[in-house]
Amino acid sequence: MHSALILAPLLAAFSTAQHVHFDIPEVERDIQSMLGEYHQYTHYPGPSPTYWHHPKPRPTKPVPALPVDKCAYWLADIKHQGIAAFNPSPSTYTVFRNVMDFGAKGDGVADDTVAINNAISSGGRCGPGTCASTTVTPAVVYFPPGVYMINGSIIDYYYTQLIGNPNCLPTIRAFATFAGGLGLIDGDQYGANGLGFGSTNVFWRQIRNFIIDMTLVPAGSSVTGIHWPTAQATSIQNVLFQMSSDNGTQHQGVFIESGSGGFMNDLVFYGGLNGAVFGNQQFTMRNLTFNNAVTAIDQVWDWGWTYKSININNCSIGLDMSSGGTTAVGSVVFIDSSISNTPIGIRTSYGSNSQPPAANSLILENVNFNNVPIAVQGAGNITALEGTPTTSHIDAWGEGHAYTPNGPNTFEGSIPAVNRPASLLQSGGKYYERSKPQYQQYPLSSFVSARSFGATGDGHTDDTTALQRAISAAKASNKILFLDHGDYLVSKTIYFPSGSRTVGESYSVILSHGDYFNNMNQPQPVVRLGLQGESGSLEMSDIIVSTQGQQRGAVLFEYNLNSPSSSPSGLWDVHARVGGFAGSNLQLADCPTTPTINVTAANLDQNCIAAFMTMHLTKSSSGLYLENNWLWVADHDVEDPALTQITIYAGRGLLVDSQAGVFWMVGTSVEHHTLYQYQFVNTQNAFAGQIQTETPYYQPNPSAPLPFPYVASLNDPKFPNTTVVDGDLVIPAADAWGLRIVDSSDILIYGAGLYSFFNNYSTTCSDQGNGEVCQDRIFEVIGGSAITVYNLNTVGTHEMIEVNGANVAFYADNANGFISTVAIFRSA
Ligand SMILES: *[C@@H]1O[C@H](CO)[C@@H](O)[C@H](O)[C@H]1NC(C)=O
Ligand SMILES: *[C@@H]1O[C@H](CO)[C@@H](O)[C@H](O)[C@H]1NC(C)=O
Ligand SMILES: *[C@@H]1O[C@H](CO)[C@@H](O)[C@H](O)[C@H]1NC(C)=O
Ligand SMILES: *[C@@H]1O[C@H](CO)[C@@H](O)[C@H](O)[C@H]1NC(C)=O
Ligand SMILES: *[C@@H]1O[C@H](CO)[C@@H](O)[C@H](O)[C@H]1NC(C)=O
Ligand SMILES: *[C@@H]1O[C@H](CO)[C@@H](O)[C@H](O)[C@H]1NC(C)=O
Ligand SMILES: *[C@@H]1O[C@H](CO)[C@@H](O)[C@H](O)[C@H]1NC(C)=O
Ligand SMILES: *[C@@H]1O[C@H](CO)[C@@H](O)[C@H](O)[C@H]1NC(C)=O
Repeated sequence: MHSALILAPLLAAFSTAQHVHFDIPEVERDIQSMLGEYHQYTHYPGPSPTYWHHPKPRPTKPVPALPVDKCAYWLADIKHQGIAAFNPSPSTYTVFRNVMDFGAKGDGVADDTVAINNAISSGGRCGPGTCASTTVTPAVVYFPPGVYMINGSIIDYYYTQLIGNPNCLPTIRAFATFAGGLGLIDGDQYGANGLGFGSTNVFWRQIRNFIIDMTLVPAGSSVTGIHWPTAQATSIQNVLFQMSSDNGTQHQGVFIESGSGGFMNDLVFYGGLNGAVFGNQQFTMRNLTFNNAVTAIDQVWDWGWTYKSININNCSIGLDMSSGGTTAVGSVVFIDSSISNTPIGIRTSYGSNSQPPAANSLILENVNFNNVPIAVQGAGNITALEGTPTTSHIDAWGEGHAYTPNGPNTFEGSIPAVNRPASLLQSGGKYYERSKPQYQQYPLSSFVSARSFGATGDGHTDDTTALQRAISAAKASNKILFLDHGDYLVSKTIYFPSGSRTVGESYSVILSHGDYFNNMNQPQPVVRLGLQGESGSLEMSDIIVSTQGQQRGAVLFEYNLNSPSSSPSGLWDVHARVGGFAGSNLQLADCPTTPTINVTAANLDQNCIAAFMTMHLTKSSSGLYLENNWLWVADHDVEDPALTQITIYAGRGLLVDSQAGVFWMVGTSVEHHTLYQYQFVNTQNAFAGQIQTETPYYQPNPSAPLPFPYVASLNDPKFPNTTVVDGDLVIPAADAWGLRIVDSSDILIYGAGLYSFFNNYSTTCSDQGNGEVCQDRIFEVIGGSAITVYNLNTVGTHEMIEVNGANVAFYADNANGFISTVAIFRSA
């Protein structure tokens, strides 16, 4: 085929772009130079054009007609050339491991425990109890189809992706004699000193595409499928749990007792005493199905939890929020779900006299009950919401404290449902949802490898040109770009056009460096997702965007595409990581904390300014689906064995100022930015839940906005230069906002955890009983309409809600243990 034909779509995209008017001269210049560079690509003298159809370099024999192997999976077959750039010996360290290469048989007979554990642990990796965390030993551990018998736990390590073949799911089956610890897969093995990894520091890991089979283990033996105390940027996807449903079964599918999660989706549970036992600060879970368990979900504790598209069938209790005691569960949002053939749908310990009154806050929206006699049961087994022997549909129901916008009003009962914008919905009235594409239906020939295309990912070579060329070529030939694991150093903006599909390997890193990204007066995106005015959609998954060294003008993600609401763009398991890791040049030695120095503009360490903004959904953009994204400015050095805290400055978190809106933020969190974490300005139509934020630990030393001067065009917040005094309390008033919503409408937040744990690196302020408060205000709404926040949970914050500058909700009026909870906030 002629290269001209292959390039036709690319040409079309660029010629569209050329008609677009760019109002920022810098952007205009940038586009023109990019187009110039593009024209060079057309003359790219490298491999012959046929190469673009065959990702394998220089094929030596004709490609045979595709055998129809229904289990073929590109990830298994692609050339494995990912490298861990900052590993001490990248040339010998292996990222991709196939358990068969370590002696696993997968034949349903042999004991594969040792082989699988060797596949995970080999190469000097970061194991529980011996290593706190690191980014330099990433691994993909791949399981071909088969039945893998185990007699002891598979011990998961740090930064590990356990990936089964999605076309023919491998089964991990416990022998009847299974003598594992906690879990067929133990994500955080207990040792002499407790959990092997601190559960709130377990980041960047996945398990996907498995059948976890416990059915050979006698029903009366307690056995757990996956033990998963975990934190941000982690996921379990597409796993089926098979447990005994015999009378007296002691099996459980997933067990989480702590952490700061996290995301799960597409899980199916059969049988068990508990389908799942969940206890963690906050989590988002979507598309879970439970059949024939005694209790589908035992919610042992939380601050906030967002469940969406949950199907519970033929259990005794659907969701039990009472088992941990009356105060253990802070709040739950449960939407777009159904419970069938189950005597008690949801059990809470909420009652008219329960203490604290905000405990067990619960919101249901768009939930179907079918043959559920008691839909919600409260304290003393009193029926709070009647069910029926037949079917009933609950538009919206809840219990807790309401501010609409003033309060608190204690309520238990039906509430007006959110008036859902049609653009955010799929058929049937549910909010749109889409799982991370694994591209399992595509043959190997549909993939292009970034490293095969000349990008090194070695963390040292400038990969700007090679990476851009690979992206453009993949798009032009309608292929999926595989970004082999590596750290791709870039000195100019990397542009992802509409139509591009990019998938990383155990979080491939795009790492900006250099002067181009270091001018606070002329910020530049590291990755630009579409040009202003460009239409269409793109997909990206398993990628991290980061910066290296001082990057005062870096905007890690700039999303400009105008994607239709019916086929939005998507970013799944795409994260930002700013400072605190090998290769960032912003580690403990570079950016130590300085609590005993009063930090001012004059003495602030300018070298530790690592980003201008993390993600910007720009004015002309629309139609983006975000799922499981963690935009993290490091609070500690991940490579340091003691996880010592560091001070890194990044100005703004996630700014949404798109005019059309239409965004989904499913399980996102934004942490430690100086001015704000989430800011919605002049925008509309967003579904978000669970969102989670943390205020920078150094504030108020210095206070916001230091070191980021006010920028009017970005609608930066303005901060007072005084403290707030309330009795004996002197409260910092210029800390970052967790959430700011300005002149916007239909911003619909289904669960928010806005946390302020520190003042000047001390946590005494987070428990408000100590005569200290971390910050005065954390969430404000200015103007706009149709704003709803369900289950707003705050920590360390004096005033929970500001409306047009006025304090609306005082934390103590909504006390809920360590947190404060408002079940419903609605703007006027
Ligand atoms: C599994 O472990 C138990 C206890 O250590 C042992 O008795 C049994 O023989 C083992 N089974 C297999 C299949 O290895
Ligand atoms: C389940 O087991 C308990 C105790 O062994 C017994 O009392 C009960 O009748 C059994 N239920 C069924 C349905 O078999
Ligand atoms: C929900 O999860 C199941 C199991 O993985 C999957 O088959 C199904 O397609 C998922 N549904 C959606 C809407 O993604
Ligand atoms: C319902 O669950 C019980 C106990 O788990 C099981 O015995 C029964 O077969 C299930 N019914 C259906 C229709 O699945
Ligand atoms: C509520 O019901 C459970 C069993 O479903 C029972 O164990 C408990 O004693 C009951 N509590 C009250 C106060 O009736
Ligand atoms: C910060 O905390 C340290 C103690 O760790 C204290 O010495 C210092 O005065 C504090 N600085 C400010 C500005 O509060
Ligand atoms: C630093 O700030 C603290 C708290 O504001 C103040 O008490 C202390 O005097 C300041 N120290 C210096 C050296 O300015
Ligand atoms: C604080 O802000 C006020 C009003 O903007 C200003 O007049 C005052 O000089 C500022 N004080 C300091 C110490 O910066």
